[in-house]
Amino acid sequence: KKTWHVAVLPGDGIGPEVIAQATRALDALAEVDSELAIEYDTFDWPSHAWHEAHGESAPADYLERLAGYDAILLGALGDPGPTTDPNRYLLSDSDSLAPLLEIRKGFDQWVCERPVRRLEGAPQYLADPRAADIDMLVIRENSEGEYVNQGGRLAAGTPNEVVTQTAVFTHRATDRIIRHAFEQARMRATSREAEGRVRDFGGKTAQVCLITKRNAQKFWGDMYTEMFAAIAEDYPDVATHHELVDAACMKFVSHPWMFDVVVASNLHGDILTDLAAVLNGGMGVSPSANLNPSDRSRPPMFEPTHGSAPDIAGQNKAGPAAMLLTAAMMLDWMGEEDPAAARAGARLRDAVAADLAAHAGDMRATDAIGDAVVAGVRAGRD
Ligand code: IPM
Ligand code: MN
Repeated sequence: KKTWHVAVLPGDGIGPEVIAQATRALDALAEVDSELAIEYDTFDWPSHAWHEAHGESAPADYLERLAGYDAILLGALGDPGPTTDPNRYLLSDSDSLAPLLEIRKGFDQWVCERPVRRLEGAPQYLADPRAADIDMLVIRENSEGEYVNQGGRLAAGTPNEVVTQTAVFTHRATDRIIRHAFEQARMRATSREAEGRVRDFGGKTAQVCLITKRNAQKFWGDMYTEMFAAIAEDYPDVATHHELVDAACMKFVSHPWMFDVVVASNLHGDILTDLAAVLNGGMGVSPSANLNPSDRSRPPMFEPTHGSAPDIAGQNKAGPAAMLLTAAMMLDWMGEEDPAAARAGARLRDAVAADLAAHAGDMRATDAIGDAVVAGVRAGRD
C-alpha cells in the first residue's frame, strides 16, 4: 500500500474554507477504504497573511520545500487587501510572477487540464437541451506561449513608450502538448465506450480541436498547424478539427456539444477555460489540474479554476464543489498508480454529484455541503 504525501496550501480568501472540506472528504475516503493512505502537511504560504508578516508571498525556498511532495493541493491565491491594486499580493518577489505561475514553472507542470461536463444540479446557463451532452476536456499548454514574460518597456512612462510582450512557442513544448491531447482523446473514447456512450465525429469516436489565431499570428499559427497535422497521422482513430480562438469562443456558447478534446496555448486556454467554466455551472463547480506527465517525480498541483473570492471569505458560504472535484482529479492522478486512489476518486465525484443533484439551487453553508459529501462518501462504501 502506498502512502501519498500531499502539501496542502489553503492560500487566501475562501481557500482555507473550501480546502477544509476537501481534506475532510479525503479523510473519510481513507476511513472507508483501508488501502488508501494520504498524509498532509499544511502551509500558510503563499498567501496574503504571509505577505503581511514577511513582506513576500512565501518563504524564499518554498519551491524546494514543496519539491519532495507527491502532489500539491491548493485552495486559492490572491487578496487585494485594502488597496485597489490587484497585483499587490498576487506577485511574489523573486521574479514578479504570481506564485501560481512560479509553481507551474518550477515543477514544469506543462499541461493544465480543465474538464467540462455539467453535473446534474449545478447551475445551468444554456437552455438548449443538447447542453446535457457537453463533454469536453480543455488542455491548456501551461509552460510557455504568452506567459513567458519576455519583452520590456522602452521609454517607459513617456509618450514615446513602446512595450513588447513576446510569446514564445517551442517545437518541444508544442509536440508534447499536442500528443498529450491525442492520448487523452483516445483514453476518453475508450472509457466512453465502456460506459456505452460512444460519440461520433465523422465516423471516429474521438476528436481533438486545435485552437490558434493563425489568420493574424502567422509564425506560431504555421508551426502549430503543421505539427498538429503531422502528429495526427499517429492517431488515425482520432478526428481533427481546427478553430480560430475568436470563433471557438462563439462556438463554446452556441455549440459546445460539438467539442471533445480542445488543445490551446497558455493564454487562449486561460481565457477559454473561464468561458468553459460557465458550461459546468460556473466557477463554483470547475476543477483543474496542473500536471507534468513526463516526470511523475515532480509534484503536480491541483487547484480549482476559481479565485479567492475575498468578498465572501470567512462567511462559510463559498461552494466547495470545485475544490472537492479538484481533489477527485488528484485522486484520479494518483489512481494511475494506486487502485485505492482510483476507487476513491470515483467515489468522491459520485458523492459530490449526488449532493448537487439533491440540492439544486439551495443556498447552503460551506461546511454543510462538506458534511453531506462526507456522509455520501461513507454511504457509498462497498
Ligand atoms: C488561472 C489563473 C492564473 C492564470 C492567474 C492567476 C495568473 O487565471 O489559473 O487560470 O492566468 O493562469
Ligand atoms: Mn484563468
